[in-house]
Amino acid sequence: MEKAKYIWMDGEMVEWDKAQVHILTHTLHYGNGVFEGTRAYQTKEGLAIFRLGDHTKRLLNSAKITMIKPPYSQKELEDAQVELLRVNDFKQNVYLRPLIYLGYGVMGLYHINAPVKTAIAAWEWGSYLGDEGLEKGIRVKISSFVRNSVKSTMGKAKAAANYLNSQMAKFEAIDCGYEEALMLDDEGFIAEGSGECFFIVRDGVLITPPNDNSLESITQQTVIELAKDFGIEVQRRRITRDEVFIADEAFFTGTAAELTPVREVDARVIGDGKRGEMTKKLQEKYFDVVYGRDEKYKHMLTYI
Ligand SMILES: Cc1ncc(COP(=O)(O)O)c(C=O)c1O
Repeated sequence: MEKAKYIWMDGEMVEWDKAQVHILTHTLHYGNGVFEGTRAYQTKEGLAIFRLGDHTKRLLNSAKITMIKPPYSQKELEDAQVELLRVNDFKQNVYLRPLIYLGYGVMGLYHINAPVKTAIAAWEWGSYLGDEGLEKGIRVKISSFVRNSVKSTMGKAKAAANYLNSQMAKFEAIDCGYEEALMLDDEGFIAEGSGECFFIVRDGVLITPPNDNSLESITQQTVIELAKDFGIEVQRRRITRDEVFIADEAFFTGTAAELTPVREVDARVIGDGKRGEMTKKLQEKYFDVVYGRDEKYKHMLTYI
């Protein structure tokens, strides 16, 4: 990871190497901290954050779900992110990582009296699943790890603790020679990737599962909107693994993954084994939107 100059910590710009916490930071032990992953793109008119308001809102919602009282308002957090990008003077595309966490002060599971801290880091970051992946597609393994059940985990929160499962799924997929994991839910239907939502195309129809067992993804929502603009029929319904195997096309969406085609799932070649036509069309449109080349969606960008 490329170092930047500053990290925003509780209202201060702190030098990157000095942005440290105490070893008894509560979140480090019990995993109750909430975060976001947001991207900023170098557009013709300068660096711009994609859907800043929606990401910040989800951050605050995550905190509400996990009983953390955020010290900063939506506006203060948005302003801090803009300011951070200004002072760092980035030359490439940027990934932003706001984190609301429980600091040092109390131990034990009862967290309510722990101090609530906020940090925002940002660094220059390229494609998450590789430039070749974006163009040619990636190979995916259906994970032996089931997506955290809604019976015991609150998946609408982008909470640190939820990601142990994703981390193990990702490791397993890579260890088995694949590039990403696709998790089923506890009833065996497709849930989502380790950090992405999932789509298939069948007979010209775009299908993606509802968010009952996946994060309420901002990229997924954007792509659905773009598909509707093209007049593509979109279905939100459960998908089984065998339906994935016989899909014409498949792809992942996420802030980090952007729109990454899937060319193989568990040794089954998807469609022609390369980026499909509809995938390409939506991917190109998505990049037009995030790079500010589409007037209709310019309101989704916050220019720095
Ligand atoms: C588990 C999980 N699902 C889906 C997504 C995609 O969400 P978004 O498009 O809002 O980045 C992410 C990434 O944030 C994620 O971590």
